Amino acid sequence: MDKQAREKAGLRGVVAGATALCSVGDGHELRYRGYAIEDLAAARTYEDVALLLLRGELPAAAAREAWQQQLAAARVLDPAIEAALLALPAGAPAMAVCRLVADLLACAPDAPDEPEAAAAALLGTMPAALCRWMRAARGQEWPGISRAPSLAAATLEMLHGTAPAEADVRALDVALILYAEHEFNASTFVARVTASTRASCLDAVAAALAALKGPLHGGANEEAMRLISRFDSPAAAVAGVKELLAEKRLIMGFGHAVYKSGDPRSPVIKEAARGLSERHGKQEMFAVAEAIEKTMLADKGMHPNLDFYAAVAYACLGIPTELFTPLFACSRLSGWLAHVGEQRASKALLRPAAEYVGPGPRELPPAA
Ligand code: ACO
Repeated sequence: MDKQAREKAGLRGVVAGATALCSVGDGHELRYRGYAIEDLAAARTYEDVALLLLRGELPAAAAREAWQQQLAAARVLDPAIEAALLALPAGAPAMAVCRLVADLLACAPDAPDEPEAAAAALLGTMPAALCRWMRAARGQEWPGISRAPSLAAATLEMLHGTAPAEADVRALDVALILYAEHEFNASTFVARVTASTRASCLDAVAAALAALKGPLHGGANEEAMRLISRFDSPAAAVAGVKELLAEKRLIMGFGHAVYKSGDPRSPVIKEAARGLSERHGKQEMFAVAEAIEKTMLADKGMHPNLDFYAAVAYACLGIPTELFTPLFACSRLSGWLAHVGEQRASKALLRPAAEYVGPGPRELPPAA
């Protein structure tokens, strides 16, 4: 398939609907409801950004406090969910665990079905469930639900069983902000299609989680880490990436369907990853990542997307690789559910047309 045919098949540039949530400009910037992503990452928290997406405006002090209380109250692990997590076979895919959590929440008779309430329930339960499951799978004692004030702090505390350093919390918060929303990407579009049938908020999230899992989308951060981990020096990384490119292999964490001259989120997460690598003594890993970045630019003219240095940041934070995509999912919950709200408001059922390329009309042969 040539480039033009591939772009057509991938619906590149096709406007498939309207949104007030997020804009990518002409492919060089990213704004959530008009605010530049760099400004939000520098001065706001993930919790503020989630409300911006869900309600339309950044919260004032009272609204922020009420939202934080709502999120803290939602950070629970229902005994039925906990039992289901502990009964899972070893090696269960972490994104399947995410879907299970969304589906179990949907089974409750009082399951939330309004975007903000569903976001609170999921933002409360999903990270707790993932940490509970991961620690059990590793034979580690469960420290219990964290009462830390933010999603970032609570996640690190439940994962590691100790109170995290403030700088680590801030770095994870930046990653959560950058991952929160991204227009009509594959998983968000799936969420909107599902919502357009008037399925529930939790159904839309379960569908989006399935789409996010793939390595061309959310799964790329895990693949990027597997690539970086293969090399023990920048020189080995340069040689290894050149070899992979010669074999016409995809280098995960590079390229983007919209950003052709660089993902605006990448410099922000790269600086967070650099700081983390220095604090956690992972400068060699960072140097390997930079060597891959330079080789991709020199040999392929390609830039890293958010997933590449997010992988480095997560690894520095001691987050297991199989939780990289689930953490992306936790952050994107606010974006998906804000889109569900928009889609519901439009009342439209998404049902595009197809270009038929099969055989013309023909006579039915007698049955053999
Ligand atoms: N490594 C090597 N070559 C690449 C890469 C890559 N990461 N990405 C694209 N190319 C090549 C393609 O093979 C193609 O080459 P060809 O013309 O010789 O066949 C050319 O660049 C154009 O590629 P397209 O697939 O047309 O680019 P598109 O913009 O449609 O794809 C995508 C975007 C899917 C993200 C692609 O760059 C890719 O597969 N990247 C790796 C996966 C990844 O990192 N995904 C994360 C996306 S961001 C996110 O989810 C937060």
